[in-house]
Amino acid sequence: MRTVAIINQKGGCGKTTVSINLASALAAKGYRTLLVDMDPQSHCAVGLAVPEEQIEQSVYDVLIGNARGEPLRMKEILWQISDRFELAPSSIDLAAFESQMSGIMDRENCLGTVLGQIQEEYDYVVVDCPPSVGLLTFNALRAATDVIVPVEMGYFSLHGLSKQLETLQVLSEQCRQKINVMVLASMYDIRTKMGREILAELRKHFGGRMFQTVVNFNTKLKEAASLGQPISEYDPASKGYKDFLNLAEELIGTDTLVHKAELVDTLEARIQTISASAEELLATIKEPQPEAPDAEVARPAAATAQTEPAKAQPQRTFEEKVADFYGVRQEDGSVVFSTLYPRAKRVEIAGDFNDWIPEQTPMQMAAENGKWVTKLPLGKGVYRYRLVVDGHWQQDPYNENAEPNPFGELNSVLHVK
Ligand SMILES: Nc1ncnc2c1ncn2[C@@H]1O[C@H](COP(=O)(O)OP(=O)(O)O)[C@@H](O)[C@H]1O
Ligand SMILES: [Mg+2]
Repeated sequence: MRTVAIINQKGGCGKTTVSINLASALAAKGYRTLLVDMDPQSHCAVGLAVPEEQIEQSVYDVLIGNARGEPLRMKEILWQISDRFELAPSSIDLAAFESQMSGIMDRENCLGTVLGQIQEEYDYVVVDCPPSVGLLTFNALRAATDVIVPVEMGYFSLHGLSKQLETLQVLSEQCRQKINVMVLASMYDIRTKMGREILAELRKHFGGRMFQTVVNFNTKLKEAASLGQPISEYDPASKGYKDFLNLAEELIGTDTLVHKAELVDTLEARIQTISASAEELLATIKEPQPEAPDAEVARPAAATAQTEPAKAQPQRTFEEKVADFYGVRQEDGSVVFSTLYPRAKRVEIAGDFNDWIPEQTPMQMAAENGKWVTKLPLGKGVYRYRLVVDGHWQQDPYNENAEPNPFGELNSVLHVK
């Protein structure tokens, strides 16, 4: 049995989409497959039309039961999705798993133990992880033979990639086990030049640690999820399904590699290489120019730039440049929020300053392609907030200051001085 954990602490990078559709493609290829949802938000159940209100027992009950010596068998909570494809659903209680398990020995091995009891019954277990690196993700990591890190192929989504990989490194230091870690390009849009450049750069840097297969941006995948079907059922002729069949094949093809001598280097060493590559990559990619700026505005600015004597500018890091444009900054007694969501139709902010009601604080689409901004009159204090993008709650990708919330996700934190 191989256990494949889908990990990335960034929300919205395609973890659940990869988990559901990889599991379904493996089953279609004849492998007995179990999908385990470790995210308290239960997105796997939603994406597979399992009615949440009918889920009486979840992964939470199995994990807690096992830890308390009142074992509930994994088999008892499973939902059959199709031939050879079953789901172990999650529930919101999982958000409390970490605090309930604090101080309990071996708490990071709960998932590994329960999966060990059923290892003869499945060929593949796919584990969908929450967008955080707490005890739930650590359990998945401990149980895994393989880790797939989906990376959304947008320029700005690379921001923080090395940080995400560093977190894996910290976990792996405690873990010290041999594991196969692969990066997967997700939501790839071949039509954009920037997308193609980023993929080429990633391939150059990540080399053999990256799947040849990429998951293209395909609206059929979104539609399938909203109708509660894997893409194999919703549209087996789609490009989206082909990508997942290819991914399954590639994963199966690396089957024996995990045990081979050339792959016995530790996870830690791997992550270090990938992390270093990501840093390098961020440093080499040029910042994208806003598309087709308004000619009237652009001309005087360009003229000034040419006539000004060239000054020696100190080298600024990629992170510093991004911080100029995106994130939060204080300005004349207000706070300006800026973010980038080129495909979004609606971006709002929900936080303790508006009682977590997103409709009260819509962001405005700025002139620059895909940029959203808003200015709020916030006094001194500490605020917590999340961005709501087309109805999906997310951590602010340009604010690194964050803390876990009771849903197992991260709230962005803002200190107004
Ligand atoms: N390859 C893709 N093409 C189109 N939409 C995608 C693709 N992958 C993910 N999405 C959409 O992006 C959103 C976030 O994806 P999801 O898989 O839920 O990410 P995560 O689990 O990492 O938060 C969802 O609305 C999903 O339908
Ligand atoms: Mg998810």
